[in-house]
Amino acid sequence: MSSVFETVQSRDVRQLGINPNHWYVVARSSEVTNQPVGVVIWQQAIALYRDSSGKVHALEDRCPHRQVKLSHGQVVGNDLECAYHGWRFDASGECAAVPYLAENQKLPNCKIRRYQVKEQDGFIWLFPGNAEPSIEPLGLPEWEHLNYIATVSVINCNAHYSYLIENLMDMYHGHLHQDLQAWASAALQDIDEDTNRVDAHYTAQSYYKIDKIWSISQLFFPALRRLHPEPLDVSYVYPHWVSTLGKDFKIYCLLCPISATQTKAYLIHFTSLNAFWRLHKLPVWFRRFIKDSLFGAAQKLLDGLVIQDVKMIEEEQQAYLQNPDRRNYELNRALVSVQRLMRIQAQKIDNFSSAD
Ligand code: FES
Ligand SMILES: [Fe+2]
Repeated sequence: MSSVFETVQSRDVRQLGINPNHWYVVARSSEVTNQPVGVVIWQQAIALYRDSSGKVHALEDRCPHRQVKLSHGQVVGNDLECAYHGWRFDASGECAAVPYLAENQKLPNCKIRRYQVKEQDGFIWLFPGNAEPSIEPLGLPEWEHLNYIATVSVINCNAHYSYLIENLMDMYHGHLHQDLQAWASAALQDIDEDTNRVDAHYTAQSYYKIDKIWSISQLFFPALRRLHPEPLDVSYVYPHWVSTLGKDFKIYCLLCPISATQTKAYLIHFTSLNAFWRLHKLPVWFRRFIKDSLFGAAQKLLDGLVIQDVKMIEEEQQAYLQNPDRRNYELNRALVSVQRLMRIQAQKIDNFSSAD
């Protein structure tokens, strides 16, 4: 493995493409209705829509007739109809109807690209690669689980995805978050890595301990916080990120890199109710009611963290664009592993438009 590591070492990480042979997250389930919606993954515009049975489809967002966006059209049955002249395309991307086709004319042979897409755990997962997927989406088992309360925050940053991943893997940036900070005194213990993931194990001081209901108030009143040591594990499971803090918190960041200088991502925070054993004896309908009513409980906290992080990430990108040759002074060896993984994965690009 060391020879692979050495050959990829020299590439500028801020210019790396993505490995398209993974499942990326392009939308939340709730964003895709029977009105088509346009998304972009690594400079490829894609129209997402739900057919009459509720199944989600992903087609190239381009009408082959005059190159306008199909996502500005509408869904008719299982087809996507272009807004301009009303040509229709079926879920495989074939032209299925032209409203003014003369008796002696055949349907044009103008197939557009169809993408592999799955709806799972509240999100739309898309596989931009040309190959047949040999892996499954990362998935979020906590999404449906009755013991977990979810909060979702959307990250839109004008920066290369590497800045976001490095921010998420570098727990020494707790300094930035001050009163919003969920951890303190992070210390990197060790790192496990291979060509698909990097697991960085930190210890940290945390005030999060959801064993008594009052402890949730610590989120809102810093003066009530009592710190205790907890393991803090952060993992870059290419191309996404997962973190656990003690037993009570799990956070995912699901990535949708848009271009070399733009990244969208979904940050999903789960609070576990596992510690409240009495709750588990209640009827399922009531537990679902609790889960649904508490959805978004950490919204202010999560959005606040995102605003602070995005500001730093975008400043890094701007500084890079002004002085691409200026080097950073990095003390956290987890980031060396993270950059190595990005380079290895980006090198697997197959005929995919790179950012350069
Ligand atoms: S441009 Fe789409 S139907 Fe004419
Ligand atoms: Fe942060």
